Amino acid sequence: MKKRIIAFISVIVVVIAAIVGFNVYRSSQNNSAQNNNTATKTSVKKNGKVTTKGKNGKVLVVYFSRTKGVYGGNLSRGNTARVADFIQEKTKGDSYEIVPQKAYPNGYDTTTRVAQREQDQNARPAIKNALPNVKKYSTVFIGAPIWWGEYPMIVRTFMDNVDLNGKTVIPFTTAEGSGLGNTAETLRKSYPKAKVRKGFTTEGNNVKNDPSSVRSDVNSWLDGLGY
Ligand SMILES: Cc1cc2nc3c(=O)[nH]c(=O)nc-3n(C[C@H](O)[C@H](O)[C@H](O)COP(=O)(O)O)c2cc1C
Repeated sequence: MKKRIIAFISVIVVVIAAIVGFNVYRSSQNNSAQNNNTATKTSVKKNGKVTTKGKNGKVLVVYFSRTKGVYGGNLSRGNTARVADFIQEKTKGDSYEIVPQKAYPNGYDTTTRVAQREQDQNARPAIKNALPNVKKYSTVFIGAPIWWGEYPMIVRTFMDNVDLNGKTVIPFTTAEGSGLGNTAETLRKSYPKAKVRKGFTTEGNNVKNDPSSVRSDVNSWLDGLGY
């Protein structure tokens, strides 16, 4: 009888220890996830599907773009998205689109105000889709329109949550005059152990009005980089 009681108590002790241990483990996991995301309220899911899959397997083209034209009207595809397509097609890489959780306003002026506020607050707007698993890629292109001289803050949300140190990272942008802005510098700061190579930029209007010449500019730039 005494043995049975001891065995019963032992089982209870083991079960309690397992429950307590699991909870401690879970809370440490939550804490470390929160610590990694101090600057963002985004709950980011990893291992998102790439938008387009090529044959190369080593190149990923990440981009953010809007289909609302700066000079009014809707574009069938955003300026930067089209440049991303040209890069993806030439490198035969994969591509991944950064999609905002909360869509930006339709109007140009209202969007500039939202973008300005995000920049002033050093915000990290939430990304709607799960982030890509970048383990297998050796080169990652990161493209976006220039907003107030730099990458839109949602691209910074991506950078805070996807570690590209040790890889080759290359910026590309479309803009109406600011060129690459300070995108290369931002990449260097975010990824001190990445190799940041020469980026590509063109005016948004060029993409809209003369896509084939932009495609050929993109191809020459990529040839120069050896892709
Ligand atoms: C919020 C906002 C801010 C912008 N800020 C700049 C800027 O600082 N410099 C610039 O040259 N163009 C600026 N533009 C123009 C865009 O960079 C340009 O139109 C770009 O091609 C849009 O790309 P998309 O079609 O991929 O969104 C801005 C546009 C928006 C909507």
